[in-house]
Amino acid sequence: MTMTTDNAAARHAWEVNAAAWDERMGTAGNDFVNVLVWPRTQRLLDVRPGERVLDIACGNGLYALRLAGLGARVTAFDFSAPLIDYARAHAAGYSGRIALRVLDATDGDALLALGEGQYDAAMSNMALFDMADIGPLAGAVARLLRPGGRFVFSVMHPCFNGLHVTHLTESADDGRQWTTRYSLKLSRYLTPFTQEGIAIRGQPEPQPYFHRPLSVLLAPFLAAGLALDALEEAAFPPDHEPGKTTSWGGNYSEFPPVLIARLRKTATDDADFTD
Ligand SMILES: C[S@@+](CC[C@H](N)C(=O)[O-])C[C@H]1O[C@@H](n2cnc3c(N)ncnc32)[C@H](O)[C@@H]1O
Repeated sequence: MTMTTDNAAARHAWEVNAAAWDERMGTAGNDFVNVLVWPRTQRLLDVRPGERVLDIACGNGLYALRLAGLGARVTAFDFSAPLIDYARAHAAGYSGRIALRVLDATDGDALLALGEGQYDAAMSNMALFDMADIGPLAGAVARLLRPGGRFVFSVMHPCFNGLHVTHLTESADDGRQWTTRYSLKLSRYLTPFTQEGIAIRGQPEPQPYFHRPLSVLLAPFLAAGLALDALEEAAFPPDHEPGKTTSWGGNYSEFPPVLIARLRKTATDDADFTD
């Protein structure tokens, strides 16, 4: 398959930034992982011991380790070979429970070679906005899952989090005291766009982000026959201190920086209609 320029640029960025990403995230993760994404993803995925689970765009494997810790048999992939090397190192103690691959999620044939109907569940954390094209993945996920299988993904909330959003802090005299108001300013939303940004401060190179409004994000998955059956918007609690690497925190507790969705492959498939 020929790689698009956007996809090649994305892969290059995730190769050169791999060491910085692994150093920052390790296997412990950050507040986005531990406060916003993992508790909800774990609940929505509801993984049972022995289930086969696919971790799509797994990065350095930190979530794959957690899935394996729940007893899942995990296949995890990413298109950044250096990130998969880090994942292999982290997964060394999980013999036989985590299979790791270098694989491009925009390559539909490579995805299907993972095994149609073989997976009880699939997961992709904070990665769809890093992908130049989500169409092949949507079609493949619907075929890789067994009937009734679920796909849980988390993304930067496309309405409130991304390069189109500015964080505002304003102070004003309300008549009795000076108060501070935290708000967001959006410069655009509906039209998809690609723009370079940074995932972690200090990374060697910026990477492309692929903004898609909610309707565009969900459309290929719904068109592939998956049904949306859960949607959660995750914000930091009001008393949460902003992290070292992000200005998100309790001051913005009315705005969810993360959206988490669960889609299901309906249990009725074509085979049920054949004689
Ligand atoms: C923000 S990181 C998230 C990594 C991991 N899921 C996590 O939450 O720790 C985004 C990941 O998407 C991967 N990625 C982006 N486009 C991809 C593609 N077309 N195929 C496979 N992986 C891709 C990047 O290499 C990177 O590891």
